[in-house]
Amino acid sequence: METILTGIQSTGQPHIGNYLGAIKPAIHLAQSFQSYLFIADYHSLTKIHRSDEFHHNVYEVAATWLACGLNPEKAVIYRQSDIREIFELAWILACFTPKGFMNRAHSYKDKVAKNLEAGNKDPDFGISMGLFNYPILMSADILLFSANKVPVGEDQIQHIEFARDIAQKFNNNYGDIIKLPEALVQKEVKIVPGLDGRKMSKSYNNHIPLFVDSKKLRKLIMKIKTDSSPPESPKDPENSLIFDLYKEFSTESQQQELRAWYLRGIGWGEAKQVLFEAIDKELSEKREVYNQFMEDPSRLDKILFEGAQKARDVAKINLDKIREAVGV
Ligand code: TRP
Repeated sequence: METILTGIQSTGQPHIGNYLGAIKPAIHLAQSFQSYLFIADYHSLTKIHRSDEFHHNVYEVAATWLACGLNPEKAVIYRQSDIREIFELAWILACFTPKGFMNRAHSYKDKVAKNLEAGNKDPDFGISMGLFNYPILMSADILLFSANKVPVGEDQIQHIEFARDIAQKFNNNYGDIIKLPEALVQKEVKIVPGLDGRKMSKSYNNHIPLFVDSKKLRKLIMKIKTDSSPPESPKDPENSLIFDLYKEFSTESQQQELRAWYLRGIGWGEAKQVLFEAIDKELSEKREVYNQFMEDPSRLDKILFEGAQKARDVAKINLDKIREAVGV
C-alpha cells in the first residue's frame, strides 16, 4: 500500500487556505492510503519563541484535523517533536545537502529579498539557521517514513524536489536506501485567495481563520476587497474573489445560480452574504467539534501520544537502516 505523508506548521489556528489546500485533500486521501499526518511544531520554532504559544498551537492544529474528519484509528497523527529520529536524520541529510541548494530555497530567498528591499546592509538580517535549514528538516520528515506521495500546496513543490535531490545524493553514495517521494499537488485547489486577492496567508494578514465564530466569519467576509461598481451593474464571476472562494464551498448547480445572479447584477454585499452562508454551513459542525477538543486538550494529548508511538515504530526501523548504511 502506498504511503502518503503531510505536515502542517503550527503557527496559529489554520485558515481557510490551509483547509482547502492541505487539510481537506489530505483527509480525503487518508481514506485510501496509509497516511501519516503530523504537526510540524519544530518547524514553527523558526518563528514562535513563546513557550505557551508554541504549546497551544499544536492543540489548535490537532483539534482542527480531527474536527475536519481525520480518523486517528486509520491515519497516524503525531507531533513532529515527539519523533526524535527525525532530527537525527536531518543531520545526516544535511551532510548530503549542497549549501547552494539551500541558498536557492524560495522561503530563504524571499527573506533575503525583503531585507534588500528594506535597504538592509546585511542580506541575512534576522534569518536563523533554523529557517535556512528548514528544507532539510522537511526532507527528514518525509524520507524517514518512506513516503511515496506528499500532498502539498504549489508553494511547497520546491521542498519536495529538495527532498528527492537530497535522497538521491545519499543513495548515490550508499545504494538504494531511501525512497524518493513525489509531490501530490491538488491541481483544482491551487492557491486560495485571501481577503485582498493575494494568496491567503497569515503573513499577509488577509486570511480567514477556520473556526472563528459565525459573527466574526461574516465580518471578515464583508471585508473582501471589491470595486465600486453599483449593485445593479452586471459582474464578471470569472474575475471575482468572492466567486473564486464560493467555488470551493458549493456545488456546480449552486455556482450556476450565483453566476446567473452576477450576470443580472448582484450587490457585492449580497454576494458576500451568499459566500458567508456557504462557508458557515460547511464549517459550523466542525467548529463545534473543534471547540470541544480545545476545551479538553488531554484528549488531544492522548491521541497524539498514541500516534507518536505508531510513527516511531516505523521511524526507528528506517533510521536504523540509514545509520547502518552510514556506518554508525
Ligand atoms: N513546510 C510545510 C508548510 O509550510 C509544512 C511541512 C513541514 C511539511 N514538514 C512537512 C509538509 C513534510 C509536507 C511534508 O506548509
